[in-house]
Amino acid sequence: MSNPTKSPQPWILPSAVEWAQRVVSEHLRPGDLAVDGTAGNGHDTLFLAQKVSPSGRVFAFDVLESALERTRQRVSDAGMTDEQVITLCAPHETLAHTLPAEIRGKVQAFMFNLGYLPGSDKTRITMADTTLLALASALDWLAPRGIMTVVVYPGHPGGDEEAEAVRFFASQRPAREVEVQQIRPVNRSQHPPECWVFLKR
Ligand SMILES: C[S@@+](CC[C@H](N)C(=O)[O-])C[C@H]1O[C@@H](n2cnc3c(N)ncnc32)[C@H](O)[C@@H]1O
Repeated sequence: MSNPTKSPQPWILPSAVEWAQRVVSEHLRPGDLAVDGTAGNGHDTLFLAQKVSPSGRVFAFDVLESALERTRQRVSDAGMTDEQVITLCAPHETLAHTLPAEIRGKVQAFMFNLGYLPGSDKTRITMADTTLLALASALDWLAPRGIMTVVVYPGHPGGDEEAEAVRFFASQRPAREVEVQQIRPVNRSQHPPECWVFLKR
């Protein structure tokens, strides 16, 4: 939930959000299709749009219209059009019914930054059961060798349960289908944010 646009100081390792963007940054090319599963303030959506522009497309989900308004403002301020970034006011667990059918199996990157919208009333928090439905669908919609990042916040109410659910989900993926890695600090706070990376084979 931190602001990923802040550049990391050179003597500090990247945050979970920054790791997610670094991994995806290596992977995406202009013209690719990408999905932001949790648009929020639009930082990741803009990041994705800049990586795939000018000919690629980004689909951005959120359940809050106010979050999508902020996202649209951010991407339009950066010169992106409605054709480049398509905002969808729908829960990400419905992505299989919401994304255009023709992009199934062609999405090069999904990003999920879980939790609540910074500065909001924290009522529209992501939930373990629906998050797992969304992650399973996203793996279906990924292209072969596509990548998915998931940033999880065990430190807030409900976050621990969600982090545990993501850990279990990750551990159950057959390695021949998906490679999974976890990036997290091991000697800082008790509940540091975690970045999960899924690479579809
Ligand atoms: C941590 S914020 C995302 C931050 C965002 N990636 C950014 O760059 O600013 C999490 C977002 O998930 C949204 N959210 C909660 N439940 C959701 C669901 N089921 N489907 C889609 N978005 C959801 C919240 O409304 C919130 O805006």
